[in-house]
Amino acid sequence: MNFDCKPLANYSLEDRNTLGFDVVAEWALPITQAEQIPPAIRWAKNAGLSHRVLGGGSNVVLPAQLPGLTLLMDIDFIEVLENRDSNTRLRVGAGVNWHALVGWTLDQNYRGLENLALIPGTVGAAPIQNIGAYGVEVKEYIDLVEAYDCQTNQWVSLSKKDCRFAYRHSVFKDEPNRFVITAVIFDLPKEWQPRVSYSDLTNYFTNRAIETIAAQEIFDAVCAIRAQKLPDPKVIGNVGSFFQNPVISNQQLQFLKEQFPQIVSYPESATHSKLAAGWLIDQCGFKGMQLGNVGVHNKQALVLTHRGGGNAGELLGLAEQIQKKVKETFGVDLIPEPIFFN
Ligand code: EPU
Repeated sequence: MNFDCKPLANYSLEDRNTLGFDVVAEWALPITQAEQIPPAIRWAKNAGLSHRVLGGGSNVVLPAQLPGLTLLMDIDFIEVLENRDSNTRLRVGAGVNWHALVGWTLDQNYRGLENLALIPGTVGAAPIQNIGAYGVEVKEYIDLVEAYDCQTNQWVSLSKKDCRFAYRHSVFKDEPNRFVITAVIFDLPKEWQPRVSYSDLTNYFTNRAIETIAAQEIFDAVCAIRAQKLPDPKVIGNVGSFFQNPVISNQQLQFLKEQFPQIVSYPESATHSKLAAGWLIDQCGFKGMQLGNVGVHNKQALVLTHRGGGNAGELLGLAEQIQKKVKETFGVDLIPEPIFFN
């Protein structure tokens, strides 16, 4: 089939970024089939334009005018590749809503993704920052990532190893705009254990024997906990955590603990620990602070918010103030979690 490439000029992305910024793409093209991608990339190259991919827009900060071609990832399918006694393999289109996929897997009694309930965004975006919450990272369940490689102009299937997953990181962050992810293949083992060791979940299930907790109950618990702490992007613009939890050496942690005995940390490896960035920001007095049209969420200081009328510049100004103060107070650098498009 011949795929014509007819991008749309001056396309509003206000409904396609969860910060709710007023953003206009110079050119945009909804992608419902992978085969549309090579001609779209060629079109952009021939016109001398850059390109980028937008899923749910829940982890990006966009400028008011987004130059070049923006591919709107709407590839929507869920395919059961194998359903065996040992495991289930699913192939899922990049445009599928992440939370809808998690709900669907539980309806089929395929367990494993329940701790990742209610994370905004799409399936194609999940591997990019290796989404993680409540003690689980998506990398554990990813078998392959299908993508178009814009550097070699070839279709590729990246293994878990090729993806170079780490905490909130992957090859897709190292090489932005190289790969257009079209589908993700998940491998969900049938052998399953409830994972409730993250303190919020342990507290939620107080007095329950772990082996009696069902996957659907964990899904419900995670939804309830997230709804309490994190603002609903449909109501208040946000991109979830604005900063990564900083990873520091255990030596630096010891030093910080002497000055700040209450500091919240988690072991990351034999030599390093992760600090709760929300705690650091909270201690610096930013929680609930409002600066023009942007602010810091009053229930979770790691989340920056936008209530309308603001823009990327204003948000980045607030982020810089926070980074500066945290650095002065704790000597720690905060690295932003969302991707900044320009
Ligand atoms: N804390 C404060 N004040 C705050 C916020 C947090 O003192 O304003 C303390 C909490 O009391 C707790 C600790 O910091 O002791 C950690 O807080 P929380 O459990 O809310 O988790 P987090 O480390 O802030 C991470 C992820 C979230 C994920 C949760 C649950 C990152 C950058 N963020 O947040 O992911 O939902 O754990 O697993 O790793 C996201 O990436 O967008 C996101 C929401």
